[in-house]
Amino acid sequence: MADQSKYIWFNGEVVPWERAQIHVMSHVLHYGSGVFEGIKCYKTSEGPAIFRLPEHINRLFQSAIKYGMEIPYNQDELFEACKNIVEVNEFENCYIRPIAFYGYDTLGVYPKDCPVEVAIASFFWGAYLGDDGVANGVNITISPWKRLSLESFPASAKASGQYLNSLLAVQDARKRGYDEALLLNQQGNVAEGSGQNLFIVKNNTLYTNDESASILLGITRDTIIQVAQDIGYEVCIQDISTDDLFNADEAFFAGSASEVTPIATIDDNPVGAGEPGPVSLELRESYLDIIHGRNERYNHWLSFVHSKEILESAGTE
Ligand SMILES: Cc1ncc(COP(=O)(O)O)c(C=O)c1O
Repeated sequence: MADQSKYIWFNGEVVPWERAQIHVMSHVLHYGSGVFEGIKCYKTSEGPAIFRLPEHINRLFQSAIKYGMEIPYNQDELFEACKNIVEVNEFENCYIRPIAFYGYDTLGVYPKDCPVEVAIASFFWGAYLGDDGVANGVNITISPWKRLSLESFPASAKASGQYLNSLLAVQDARKRGYDEALLLNQQGNVAEGSGQNLFIVKNNTLYTNDESASILLGITRDTIIQVAQDIGYEVCIQDISTDDLFNADEAFFAGSASEVTPIATIDDNPVGAGEPGPVSLELRESYLDIIHGRNERYNHWLSFVHSKEILESAGTE
């Protein structure tokens, strides 16, 4: 069970965790008609800071637009609500889960007059693929389930119902003893993990795909592209075939929850030396420094939860 916290922001109010409830006849429960985000907040020397919050809030609104859903708040309001829910729950490190969804009105698939409800939870969530996976690399499998087609879904929307595709893939992978699934797209090229984007490294060049490969355009993916280029690596955005994958020197997952997680094996074949490679580790270290506010160059990606006045009065500055 997710670690509970004290409060959830629910339709404009901060309510106790157990009171954030919806009716079983809510549209979202039957048809997965919700859009959501997964955001991380990290402890820094200036208090908790939410990583790339405006980009996440913006993607939430873009996902809603793709489904014709009108969120009854503006981006600034949800931006402040995210900071607020971290503050009232007194977190330093946490995961933040905003979700906008169709509530209770009709059971017709066409949501017609269903209200759009919004909740924002914050709670503690440790390493998504386990501490061991982060340290030694994860063992993954290519899923028999293909990533949903661009012709059937707006693949770059982060929508609740679309995650049934991810659920099938990760459930199958776990049943077969692997840590995570890697989904191919309808063309047979690499798409992404069940909840992470993929990078490979070959001869010190990074490769990753884009939305044409039927992926969610990850904010961590964007971060890694920028940071790798700033370090001096060439980053090629192109389709990745299974041959590219099996011939890679290194491979790693990137996602808000997974952060940068090296891949040790794919279907029991070692990637490179079968352990986290130097480029993956360098990027992982850089990422950790940035999210914890240890690299000033990227502090514009941090939204500090507490105002300067609060920090001063608490004597933490
Ligand atoms: C399917 C999928 N792909 C990629 C990602 C990575 O996206 P981000 O880096 O924005 O968290 C996620 C995580 O939310 C995901 O669920």
